[in-house]
Amino acid sequence: MPKVKIGVLISGSGTNLQALIDNIEKGLINGEISIVISDKKDAFGIQRAKKHGINAVEIDKKNFADKNIFMKAIMDELEKHHVELVVLAGFLSILSEDFIEKFRNRIINIHPSLIPAFCGKGYYGQRVHKAALDYGVKVSGATVHFVDEGADTGPIILQEAVKVEDDDTPESLAARILKVEHKLLPQAVKLYCEGRLTIEGRKVIIRTQND
Ligand code: GAR
Repeated sequence: MPKVKIGVLISGSGTNLQALIDNIEKGLINGEISIVISDKKDAFGIQRAKKHGINAVEIDKKNFADKNIFMKAIMDELEKHHVELVVLAGFLSILSEDFIEKFRNRIINIHPSLIPAFCGKGYYGQRVHKAALDYGVKVSGATVHFVDEGADTGPIILQEAVKVEDDDTPESLAARILKVEHKLLPQAVKLYCEGRLTIEGRKVIIRTQND
């Protein structure tokens, strides 16, 4: 089976990108990262990629007055590198409809809560954890899902719960959930690259290796 060409989109630190790089370097994923794109200038994830000899570029959203032109620039870069799977690893821009159509069922996102809680417009990064703590939930967690036109509404691939402690702050909860993300995202990408994910309506069916 040829390796799946992956494009990773980031906006910041890129610890999830690092988890993907580490799993790929260990030979655990039948894929290769062809390009890393950041929509923000000076995102640390770009340095992580370059350190591992991976192509990485900044396409700074701030340089584009028009969202569609910004999205087109990202799509062109992905196309240039023959990307088959797009992974949103802490990517905070909302994708255009053209983008979603072009990569239909081939875009995976990681979100730091148990969707459908604390997700959608305005819920990203620490805001998610603050909202979960303010609500008083006893568990939160991480979700990996396919991306559709809605905000965090696509079919769910994997989820894992994380217990909320009484003395949690958004930072402490984020740190424990991030550890789970670093396991869940590579696992979902691995399953995709082995052709083991099938979308049936809202459900993602995961085939076992023996099927
Ligand atoms: C992660 O917690 C990810 O789940 C979150 O941003 C963080 C990025 O961290 N994504 C969202 O909130 C998307 N709605 P990283 O740059 O260290 O991987």
